[in-house]
Amino acid sequence: MKVAATSASPVTCSADAIVVAVRSDKQLTPAAKEVDTALGGVIQRLLDSGEFAAAHATTLVLYPTAGVATKCVLVVGMEEGTVDQAARISREAAGAAAKRLATKQRNQVAFFVPFPCPAAGVCGAMVGCTGQDLYRAERKLFPIAELQFAELTEPQLVEGQTLGEAVNWTRELVNTPPADMYPRSFVEIVQSTLAGLPIQSEVWDARRLEAEKCQAILAVGRGSVREPQLLMLHYRGASPTAPVLALVGKGVTFDSGGLSLKPSEGMLDMKCDMAGAATVVGAMQAIARLQLPVNVSAYCGLVENMVSGDSYKLGDVIRTRAGVTVEVHNTDAEGRLVLADTLDVARGQGVRHLIDLATLTGACMVALGRQVSGVFTNQQAWCDQVLQAANSAGDWAWQMPMLSLYNELISSPVADIKNVGDGRWGGAITAAKFLERFVGDSPWVHVDIAGPSFSDRSSNWLDGGASGCFVPTLIELAKRYAGGL
Ligand code: BES
Ligand code: MN
Ligand code: ZN
Repeated sequence: MKVAATSASPVTCSADAIVVAVRSDKQLTPAAKEVDTALGGVIQRLLDSGEFAAAHATTLVLYPTAGVATKCVLVVGMEEGTVDQAARISREAAGAAAKRLATKQRNQVAFFVPFPCPAAGVCGAMVGCTGQDLYRAERKLFPIAELQFAELTEPQLVEGQTLGEAVNWTRELVNTPPADMYPRSFVEIVQSTLAGLPIQSEVWDARRLEAEKCQAILAVGRGSVREPQLLMLHYRGASPTAPVLALVGKGVTFDSGGLSLKPSEGMLDMKCDMAGAATVVGAMQAIARLQLPVNVSAYCGLVENMVSGDSYKLGDVIRTRAGVTVEVHNTDAEGRLVLADTLDVARGQGVRHLIDLATLTGACMVALGRQVSGVFTNQQAWCDQVLQAANSAGDWAWQMPMLSLYNELISSPVADIKNVGDGRWGGAITAAKFLERFVGDSPWVHVDIAGPSFSDRSSNWLDGGASGCFVPTLIELAKRYAGGL
């Protein structure tokens, strides 16, 4: 997808379609006003009559016969909002416009929209016009070949395009069905996509994982014919002595639940269980492309959780790499096992701050709904940085408690801990409490993206399937990390 600047006026612009915005209080933005005047006041009449309410991220399509050079004018409603909502508002408005226009093939679409956050507007347009059409003969959305933007600077365009490509790549990885996306293929796709960028990659196969005592990763992967992998990516944009930020991702390429088998409804979308890993590799791509002056490493624990004669079993006791023993009470609580070893490997490489992303618990969706990620930490100052980054990048996130009273809920009669908490109660928290046992005194934040990373419904600005949530936050976090915390 091409992204370019346009210096045309909305009236003379000859793109296949132009986009102008109306505030949700029905105020026309300057470009909308210009177009409205050229069209004899039709937009204003549609607003005044109530035919178009200009609610946030709703759209109206006009095919004028005269007055403007383009044949199609799209009007989008855009909320006013406060500064800390700028990215979300821009992304949603741009996404809604692009998604509406993507219902047919278009070569050039020009945006004359005063986005409060320009890069997020560019990103949103790229994401909105890209759907889950990887495996369909007849597309539902046609990605727009060239997106043009008025009054955006070159750096804003570059940043927005980099963001948009990263988010769309993450979405594509998550949307790819599990027959094509398994630990080894994930590694190969990531390595070939990142080739040419200044990123070092390192891969541990099953033999190496054995040698490195990653028994938790190996236990989860044992029921699958697909070998587990640990993928590490290293980007060094700052001095070798500068602290390293670690991005850790849960990469369960398919979660059947193992012997604690999921029912069919619960299993259908479980290709999404590698969204954490896809999020961190998407962010790494953007960080390297933007050449951020920061040191970042990504760690993806990649396994397929399957059923076979060799699956790990309930009652098994696993000795994790960190030395903590875990009694298996439910093979469907596999993500925390994979992350236990992955976090320990990251720590062993001397990283300073940790953030992990994981589709970890259905309980987090029960607590916060489908659109909000749960955030957990062992160090409030680091957590505040993450929450601020999420806010300014436009990802919904909410912090959850980590009170010590939850610790006893993961105690086991036979091992150091067990891999489930108190039944369904507080399940997102007990999962985070489990992870906490593997990060020692490193500042760490865990983000449970089970809800927002994947949806079976589409919105005005986003097709269903993977969302790419938290890719923008991780990029924003890396920027702030470069500035020194
Ligand atoms: N991958 C699931 C969590 C999940 C559920 C992600 C729905 C996205 C949508 C995870 O591995 C899981 O199965 N968790 C269990 C934990 C339980 C067995 C303690 C859950 O949430 O039910
Ligand atoms: Mn599971
Ligand atoms: Zn899972």
